[in-house]
Amino acid sequence: MFDLVLRGGRVLDGTGSRDVPADVAIQDGKIAAVGQLGAAQAREALDVSGLTIAPGFVDVHTHSDALPFAADPLPAKILQGVTTEITGNCGSTPFPLEPKTAHLLREHHAGLFADMAWDWTRLSGYLERLEAVGPVSNVAALVGHGALRVAAMGFDRRSPTDDELRTMQRLVAESLEDGAVGLSSGLIYAPGLYSQTPELVALAEVLRGSGRPYASHIRGETATLFDAVDEAIGIGEAAGVPVQVSHLKAAGQANWGRAGELLARLESGRARGVEVTGDVYPYDAGSTRMSALLPPWCHEGGKGALLERLGDSALRARIAGEFETGLPGWENLAGAAGWDRVRIASVEENQSYLGRSVQEIAHEMGVEPLEAFCSVLQEEHGAPTVVLTMMDEADIRTILAHPLVMIGSDAIITRGRPHPRTWGTYPRVLGHYARDVGLFSQPEAVRKMASFPAEKFGLSGRGLVVEGHAADLVVFDAATVNDRATYEDPEQPPIGMPHVLVNGVVAVRDGVFTGARAGQILRG
Ligand code: CU
Ligand code: ZN
Repeated sequence: MFDLVLRGGRVLDGTGSRDVPADVAIQDGKIAAVGQLGAAQAREALDVSGLTIAPGFVDVHTHSDALPFAADPLPAKILQGVTTEITGNCGSTPFPLEPKTAHLLREHHAGLFADMAWDWTRLSGYLERLEAVGPVSNVAALVGHGALRVAAMGFDRRSPTDDELRTMQRLVAESLEDGAVGLSSGLIYAPGLYSQTPELVALAEVLRGSGRPYASHIRGETATLFDAVDEAIGIGEAAGVPVQVSHLKAAGQANWGRAGELLARLESGRARGVEVTGDVYPYDAGSTRMSALLPPWCHEGGKGALLERLGDSALRARIAGEFETGLPGWENLAGAAGWDRVRIASVEENQSYLGRSVQEIAHEMGVEPLEAFCSVLQEEHGAPTVVLTMMDEADIRTILAHPLVMIGSDAIITRGRPHPRTWGTYPRVLGHYARDVGLFSQPEAVRKMASFPAEKFGLSGRGLVVEGHAADLVVFDAATVNDRATYEDPEQPPIGMPHVLVNGVVAVRDGVFTGARAGQILRG
């Protein structure tokens, strides 16, 4: 007697092979049988005739670190079939915490990681808390370089002392012991951007032999794109660890048409023996914290110091000048996009800013864009996020289609006018890019969204529809599945994706989140 049988569907197993007609039986949270199961007895049966059964999607690039702690978790991810979230990307994790600097990390993450107790010190404590509340999707956590740096040396703009570096190495080792599935960095963000390459090599070396990757939001995706990707691959090469280049893109008009060159860097890294891969989200805009658009020196000392600087008119003038001229080594995102292409995605106070560009807000205020930018940031206590349009469609397609590239949403869990990737990434790849544009087959899309990422991050027993694997499953209609989230109206669930199961529990039924919190903690 099985717990549940999905009857009458076609199974797309996740290896990239084409779909075949088969039933799927589930017992104790695992896939117990796949095939023609006839009249096999089950406590419950789900008729999925005409639909495709695929492995649940493993989102390799998320910022869902705080999502499970919400009383009413936003179903944006589970409704698009994400059954496993790899958290802690871009160097940002809510651990480890050291008593002296914990408040700095907490202030830094206000607005993104709300609803958390912050009462742990290391990964094990954070994961215990997660386990207690019960995540909707499975969670595997990276440890973030930014958080390591805050723990060891706050928001100091310098290289670490030998002692501080040893502290960070110890914290990486502890995180691995606790089950971290890799190390992430965000080298355009404070405090990660204050690091030099040798520091990152020294930290990545702690991963050597574990098979765990170094995943990086590289030091630049606009003017310094090629040096930055070389640095990331070089870190993996020097440390002897696999590399994941996060959210691959050729951003800024000067880079348009250069995605092929970017991917060639990955290929040549592999030719030298580095196990390098990348991920991408299927959109022409990025999204990040609004404060991340400021020059590096603004962040020294942390959020409090940053907000104070914004109130100083002489410093505002200095910032305005630097937006014009740039600074060596600074990823000037607003300069690359243009103020008319930087839109406010989330706020705490003034809802009327949502969806509007800094240019428009400046026009209304009757001031220069930089003045408007600083005012909004200050009014909103440094917490807003923004959406920046800066990629070319042809490059997005080149990257999506490359065999070394898997899918990751980079979804930021905020309300308001978030980037549509938060709600639409996976159905958009399956429907728009695979079926409608024909970039690749749906079986290949599922491979890029399930088994390939599970393999990269060492999640054994996930990512395929085979006997013995966890019953993380997505049921979709191959002919109609698609995203509905748009830049104008992003908080829209997909169509054609009626059921999602996490560890054998129905988390989405007929397109509605059931409230199930059946996710497990996947410790490395
Ligand atoms: Cu990210
Ligand atoms: Zn990032």
